[in-house]
Amino acid sequence: MTSKLHNVKLHNIAARVFDAYGTLFDVNTAARSAQDALGEKWQPLAELWRAKQLQYTWLRSLTGRHTDFWQLTGDALDFAMETFHLASPALRGRLMDLYLSLSAYPEIASTLQRLKAAEIKLAILSNGTPAMLASAAASAGITNLLDAVLSVEEVQIYKPHASIYALACARFNASADRICFVSSNGWDAYSAKAFGFRVVWCNRTGQPPEHIPETPDAQIATLAELPDIVLG
Ligand code: LAC
Repeated sequence: MTSKLHNVKLHNIAARVFDAYGTLFDVNTAARSAQDALGEKWQPLAELWRAKQLQYTWLRSLTGRHTDFWQLTGDALDFAMETFHLASPALRGRLMDLYLSLSAYPEIASTLQRLKAAEIKLAILSNGTPAMLASAAASAGITNLLDAVLSVEEVQIYKPHASIYALACARFNASADRICFVSSNGWDAYSAKAFGFRVVWCNRTGQPPEHIPETPDAQIATLAELPDIVLG
């Protein structure tokens, strides 16, 4: 990682727009909360569930067969449960319910409160359905900090299609270079930069750079570092 990615100040920004799953909300918390039933399988199940969920978004988009993120999350869970020989409708129902109230990462509420206090416009832009996002935001206690919750359901195709990122430009009546997008998903961060956003990659897991076009403007390890970039 080059130091150029750090200590960047981003100015003349109309809105800060956040990815949801993996960035604000910890997708592993659903399976982790069901450890009593899953035992040691909770983590590999969580990883496969997430990987398959994303894979299905790309497959659905490429084949023009859209279905919403709730349905697709259930489809991915079915695949993961079958892989680990977990045939239990009750457990499936429990895991899906848990997905509606995922834990936010610990720094989320305080970071968003700090940005909001500085009168910065804040939004979510996510693959999630409006109902899923409303539920997760409510359980994280951040609903009243958000100026907009933008869902791919408005355009019925998944990230990283350009029409998704364009939703933020339309909502805030701003050109792409006046939107600061924050994602922990490397592929999302790089693709958003290719779209033309200013991008902060919250690289929570210290993963290597993606090998796809464009590079985010800044890289941080948790969102607690964001106010320094935004307010500095
Ligand atoms: C989202 C996925 C990428 O929230 O996590 O859009």
